Amino acid sequence: MAFDLEMTDELLSTTRAVRKRLDFERPVPREVINECLELAVQAPTASNSQTWRWVVVDDPDLRSKVADFYRMAMQDRSSVSEAWDGKKAEPDDQTARVLNSAGWLAENLHKVPAFVIPCFEGRPRPDAPAATLSATYGSIMPALWNFQLALRSRGLGSTLTTVHLFREKEVAELLGIPDDVLQVALLPVAYTKGTDFKRAARPPVSGITHWNGW
Ligand SMILES: Cc1cc2nc3c(=O)[nH]c(=O)nc-3n(C[C@H](O)[C@H](O)[C@H](O)COP(=O)(O)O)c2cc1C
Repeated sequence: MAFDLEMTDELLSTTRAVRKRLDFERPVPREVINECLELAVQAPTASNSQTWRWVVVDDPDLRSKVADFYRMAMQDRSSVSEAWDGKKAEPDDQTARVLNSAGWLAENLHKVPAFVIPCFEGRPRPDAPAATLSATYGSIMPALWNFQLALRSRGLGSTLTTVHLFREKEVAELLGIPDDVLQVALLPVAYTKGTDFKRAARPPVSGITHWNGW
């Protein structure tokens, strides 16, 4: 089968972090989420371990409680980053827009019709070697991105968020997620308002690629 490169490249280059264009009014059928998850689990896993697990939250009361923890986690993150760097540089325009949009998402998160929390069954020890950490996160992040691409090709959108992990324990208790299951992200899922998205400005690859050595 020959791929339509124009369409494939469009999908790969315009799957953006969507926040303000998420449509809160249009319900997301469970079948659509299941269909995208079927594509997500075609992604690779280390040693073919297939350790991805998915928690989907579409109950309004639970979404509201998770969103409260998300907002608390945003506060936790601000205190941590202030403690890291007292003399923070002013963000550039693109970063300032992302921060503003991330704050807006936090304020409105409970309105998003569904949350998907990708998890990894197992939890690396805090002193685990880089290879183990890479195999852990590397066995879920590709599936997560497959899921986001599948959403985009069906007129839905999302943002990969990790901030709620500052409150991972509280969210685990709320949703009954076992201690040995690692949450890795939270994807707010909705149809998008319009389906045209642009390529992002990125540095030229030639400046960040090293052939045959650094
Ligand atoms: C590992 C990771 C963690 C992220 N965490 C958050 C988050 O907690 N909240 C949020 O609003 N966006 C989060 N993002 C989304 C980024 O802000 C976004 O991908 C980035 O601004 C680039 O925008 P683009 O994906 O549209 O190119 C995260 C992205 C990645 C890859």
